[in-house]
Amino acid sequence: MFKLPDLPYSYDALAPTLSAEAMRLHHDKHHAGYIQKTNELLKDTGRRGDNLENVVRDAARSGDRKLFNQAAQAWNHAFYWHCMTPARNAPGNTLAAAIQHDFGGMDALRAKFVETGAGHFASGWVWLLAKQGRLLVVATHDADNLIAHTHSGTPLLVCDLWEHAYYLDYRNVRKKFLETWFDKIANWDFATAQFDAAHNSAGGWCFADDETALAA
Ligand code: FE2
Repeated sequence: MFKLPDLPYSYDALAPTLSAEAMRLHHDKHHAGYIQKTNELLKDTGRRGDNLENVVRDAARSGDRKLFNQAAQAWNHAFYWHCMTPARNAPGNTLAAAIQHDFGGMDALRAKFVETGAGHFASGWVWLLAKQGRLLVVATHDADNLIAHTHSGTPLLVCDLWEHAYYLDYRNVRKKFLETWFDKIANWDFATAQFDAAHNSAGGWCFADDETALAA
């Protein structure tokens, strides 16, 4: 049984970029719902105790879309909370050099990230990732994510493009949400740690790293 991980900050910590009301709804209702439904779908499969990454990958491989959608959304949101921080920071030296090399600097990365996220049709996620020594920005549809597929690369940062992520605070203006998110609350310390893990062949963040998410 998976447990809803706590936010790594208080509900109001990201305001005014994201309001406490939006964060509470997003975490306590949406993320909680994905965790609960994943547990319900796994209840009769004898897979209690498996890790969430394996559940996501196996569901993708076997074509179990019902389980995949819930489990991937449970994983994506847990990852997403770490991609934001109330403490403004900047990419570490290793990641900053890669951003300079692959995009030409932070301004160009920001433009690519915002353009990709704003231009994505309907629900999904926009990712900054490291793949085969290169940084890329891609969007995935609905619950889809990078861990579902082999050779997808290591996710460094993700922003939620579902309307529930921004509608309370930004209404329909997703572009403004992405610009503000990138400028004010993107967690570059986390992205740098993920980048370094990718280059050290370490696995990077996993769901069980969230001690608050460990099964009771
Ligand atoms: Fe969400």
